[in-house]
Amino acid sequence: MMRILAVESSCDETSVAIVEDGKNVISHVVLSQIDIHTVFGGVVPEIASRNHIVHMTRVFDKALSEANMSAKDIDLVAVTRGPGLIGSLLVGINAATTFAFVNDLPIMGVNHLIGHIYAAGIEHEMKFPALALLISGGHTELLYMKDHMDIKMLGTTLDDAVGEAYDKVARTLGLAYPGGPVVDKLAKKGTDTYHLPRPLMDAETFNFSFSGLKSAVINLVHNEQQRGHDIHINDMCASFQSSVLDVLISKTKKAADFLDVKQIIVAGGVAANKGLRERIFAEIPDKEIIIPSMEYCTDNAAMIGAAAYYQYLKEGAKKKYLIGGESTIAFDQYEFNEK
Ligand code: KG4
Ligand code: ZN
Repeated sequence: MMRILAVESSCDETSVAIVEDGKNVISHVVLSQIDIHTVFGGVVPEIASRNHIVHMTRVFDKALSEANMSAKDIDLVAVTRGPGLIGSLLVGINAATTFAFVNDLPIMGVNHLIGHIYAAGIEHEMKFPALALLISGGHTELLYMKDHMDIKMLGTTLDDAVGEAYDKVARTLGLAYPGGPVVDKLAKKGTDTYHLPRPLMDAETFNFSFSGLKSAVINLVHNEQQRGHDIHINDMCASFQSSVLDVLISKTKKAADFLDVKQIIVAGGVAANKGLRERIFAEIPDKEIIIPSMEYCTDNAAMIGAAAYYQYLKEGAKKKYLIGGESTIAFDQYEFNEK
């Protein structure tokens, strides 16, 4: 049995979890800074780092005390190494390194995006080959997983990430940060009446593009305002969301068929989207689809602990300490003649 203490601090959540064998979450503490950043309309990196410093020790203590454990019960320390806000990452890396060093434990750096994918493995059995649709505030990726920790990139966004587009559209409509959950909620009350583009939906590529869609919403809103017309916010949210979901679901379906995968994993903050959860099962009925529950979709340390276990099985844990973070860790491109 492998008991991992995991730390996540790449953006605005300070989180520590203890996870056994990649699945069994023994304790999980997430302290969100959303209330602090919402008044600024987005995450302010310097404020995020400072708050991680203020709260990290308490979050560590709480994760250990909730599990009724001390350092001697831990086998390995894992921490998000990137991508993310560098100041925020460094707080988690320093805390994890110190804890590991003082208690003579090995430490491992984990890619945040791989963490998001492995969130799906906490409550579900992962089956390979799998296709992962990873959608968050900073990323939009279609990934092919031949096996555990064997990940290749099929497609990515050429400009804005989906979550980023949600946040910017929400801002244009005068809605609170983070925009995703608000737009999702209002979309349910509205109708898809505004005509918006479906970028790259029918193009021969697994890449995405969301900045044109975001601009289309902004232009429509400004034009209506100049004419003195009211914007039907619920309808605009419904129109934007149906455009996003049309693109995400159709590309996922095409990729899943092309690769003939056994399972589709949907993960990342935008996987919390209720509209997506309703539509994707209905529209891709012939594939098994797994989505983490809400608490494991947005940033959290349990997913880092889960990913760390499979990383450990693959390459062991030899490091005594980590220095610095990595803000961009890219996946290798999928070669279209392999399978
Ligand atoms: O994974 P995450 O917590 O942080 C990153 O790694 O980026 O994702 C945050 C993003 C934000 O852009 C937020 O607006 C979006 O996920 N999000 C949603 C929903 N809940 C969170 N987007 C659409 N619908 C939601 N229900
Ligand atoms: Zn994330």
